[in-house]
Amino acid sequence: MALLEPRGGEAGTVVEILRVFSHASTRPCLVRTTDGRLYVLKLAGAGPGPRGLLIEYLALRFAKLLGAPVPDAKPLLLPHGFPWMVGTDEFDEMIQRSFGWNLGVGFIPDTEPVAAVDLGLDDTASLLTIAEADCFLHNVDRPRSNPNLLRGVCGKLHAIDFDACLYFDRALAGRLPASFTLPGTHLLEGTMTRIEGKTLDPDLPASWLAEVPPAWIDAAGREVSAIANALATYVRHWNATCPDRTHTG
Ligand SMILES: Nc1ncnc2c1ncn2[C@@H]1O[C@H](COP(=O)(O)OP(=O)(O)O)[C@@H](O)[C@H]1O
Ligand SMILES: [Mg+2]
Repeated sequence: MALLEPRGGEAGTVVEILRVFSHASTRPCLVRTTDGRLYVLKLAGAGPGPRGLLIEYLALRFAKLLGAPVPDAKPLLLPHGFPWMVGTDEFDEMIQRSFGWNLGVGFIPDTEPVAAVDLGLDDTASLLTIAEADCFLHNVDRPRSNPNLLRGVCGKLHAIDFDACLYFDRALAGRLPASFTLPGTHLLEGTMTRIEGKTLDPDLPASWLAEVPPAWIDAAGREVSAIANALATYVRHWNATCPDRTHTG
């Protein structure tokens, strides 16, 4: 079951692990796939597990539609018995727990992590879109102490790390917020005077779920149709909470 290909998705397979991001809490690693592309691989064997991968995959798709500067992502297959290449014994154990489908986040070359104090006026437009996405997703992992932002060439900001977003649990539990606000610990809480207000197509999550490995759905503990319906209801609620929202098209 766990190794079935995601339906409708173009399969990618890891052929090389180049380095471990050992400063990060879930120990993602830089990998190369059969087609020669580089990805940051977030592992099913790390703390948030396959459910966290599903949450992050869907979150990145929502965030992109809301205009936030986020990398593309896709499920990647780590073949069973993949040989030890880098890192400690502990990391190798995590790799062994991760044989099967993991989340490949498109690697953005030549970036540096951004500290909150390094954000300036030129970043305002990007930060507005990131705030809007985090508001929809209820992302609790963008505090001042760890903004999960990268700065790339020409100073462009990129938002990463969406495995700690609460939209998924809220949607599945039917807990729809009276109004969408940033979490109290968020880097931008209280600083954004205006959020643009884009609507989303409630049918999109169903099409994205068709590309998701069955093991991730199993970890969510609900049928695909139940997850799609819950997310569609959540999206409709988002669309309805601001009457002058413009459609993303
Ligand atoms: N798309 C990316 N491109 C380049 N580097 C990345 C990318 N995503 C993550 N990284 C690097 O990996 C580190 C950990 O990624 P992150 O998603 O924050 O993982 P964690 O959930 O473990 O905190 C980042 O601090 C950054 O150095
Ligand atoms: Mg992080």
